[in-house]
Amino acid sequence: MKPLILANWKMNPTSLAEAKRLFNSVKAGIKGVKAAEVVVCPPFCYLLGLSPSSNLKLGAQNCFWEEKGAFTGEISPLMLKGLGLQYVLIGHSERRRNVGEIDEMVNKKLKAVLAVGLKPILCIGSKTREFKKETKDMKAQLEGALFGISKPDLKKILVTYEPVWAISTTRGGVVATPADAKRGANFIKITLAKLFDKATANKVRLLYGGSVDSTNIQGFIEKSQMDGVLVGGASLKSGEFIKLVKTLI
Ligand code: PGA
Repeated sequence: MKPLILANWKMNPTSLAEAKRLFNSVKAGIKGVKAAEVVVCPPFCYLLGLSPSSNLKLGAQNCFWEEKGAFTGEISPLMLKGLGLQYVLIGHSERRRNVGEIDEMVNKKLKAVLAVGLKPILCIGSKTREFKKETKDMKAQLEGALFGISKPDLKKILVTYEPVWAISTTRGGVVATPADAKRGANFIKITLAKLFDKATANKVRLLYGGSVDSTNIQGFIEKSQMDGVLVGGASLKSGEFIKLVKTLI
């Protein structure tokens, strides 16, 4: 399977005109690239204003766990499916930190996304780099997020190792190495094998996220044997993001 490059624009840019400029420039820049599947997750309000193509698709940064009803301000997985999206980010650390998203909510969202046939990208990560504490946090997140999920459904979830200590806005100069990413990914695989079984765990696609750019992406994909990456800051500069995608050619 091709590596997945997922651009998480977070709460950027601040106008549809800018969003169109960035999206269209990336679309033109990666035209003809077949080595990777590239998906941009913009703020919800731009989803209808951007025109995806076969090599630049759209995804969502979040969703609610109900299909419809009295849930002011929320967007349902069914609505996202109606827009033709495939991927939805679930449980990003910034949602956990800024809006108090807890594992129980992440679990309900995962189930709701799977129920409508979309692919959830589950984000797992700890604030601390100290391995014992980091893995304790990640184990608790995996157990909580995946409670009651069936083995066939687990295979449809993409799990992202996103060490919070290496995300560009929080890291204060600390960048994860491919070896760190591999160690985190191995821990996720082992935990999934314990919670489900080894064969099922081996089928789960793993991504890495945290300060990925055009200079380090290759290391994360090749040395850490990741199935893809989640890119924040570097996806907001079209030249840099195009370069990052083209590194994989
Ligand atoms: P970053 O963000 O690439 O800016 O570190 C990654 C993420 O939070 O998804």
